[in-house]
Amino acid sequence: MLPTESATRDGRPLVLRRATAEDAEALVAAVDAVSRERAYLLRSRFHQPIEDEREFLARAAEEGRLVLLADVEGRLAGWVTLGRPRQDYRRHCAELGIGVLAEWRGLGVGRALMEVAIAWSAAQGLERLELGVRASNHRAQRLYERLGFVEEGRARRAVKDEDGRYDDVIAMARFL
Ligand SMILES: CC(C)(COP(=O)(O)OP(=O)(O)OC[C@H]1O[C@@H](n2cnc3c(N)ncnc32)[C@H](O)[C@@H]1OP(=O)(O)O)[C@@H](O)C(=O)NCCC(=O)NCCS
Repeated sequence: MLPTESATRDGRPLVLRRATAEDAEALVAAVDAVSRERAYLLRSRFHQPIEDEREFLARAAEEGRLVLLADVEGRLAGWVTLGRPRQDYRRHCAELGIGVLAEWRGLGVGRALMEVAIAWSAAQGLERLELGVRASNHRAQRLYERLGFVEEGRARRAVKDEDGRYDDVIAMARFL
């Protein structure tokens, strides 16, 4: 299934592949850049030490996690992670997180990442994918809905931005 080769909506080469330890630095920088936009992720920066990230990536496969990267013209454009809850009774589930760098949004990269993540999950025998999305993040919600995710609930005012404005966090899930 991986790697896959396709193209962005404007015709640039798009490769989706599993992350390796060598991607640690670029991935930390990418997650930090999207975090610093302070609008989408549930953190405002990402300061993971590179060595810790290398470990995290090196152990992903043996721990049943997926860290999938999208390269556009050889540059890291986005990622999707599927985390696996540790509790026995939650082993049929995975928690999804996704980000595409601002420069590459709206070109089909997020959709491509999601489609492979869903296919990978089904192939692993997982039954349920879960995620949380800020209520103000309509683009992400639309993507999830088009791919079969359904709203399950809402944590009201769960996020408070620096300017004092609140946001809800919507819980969404998709059965496989
Ligand atoms: C949300 C995100 C992952 C979507 O990825 P993307 O590569 O920009 O989106 P795509 O080009 O693949 O488009 C996917 C869908 O999103 C929707 N979409 C794309 N651009 C949009 C826009 N500007 N406004 C509204 N919806 C939009 C469309 O419904 C599209 O569906 P389609 O393929 O049927 O046309 C990406 O924009 C992103 O990383 N944003 C910032 C971080 C973030 O929000 N992460 C998710 C946190 S829960």
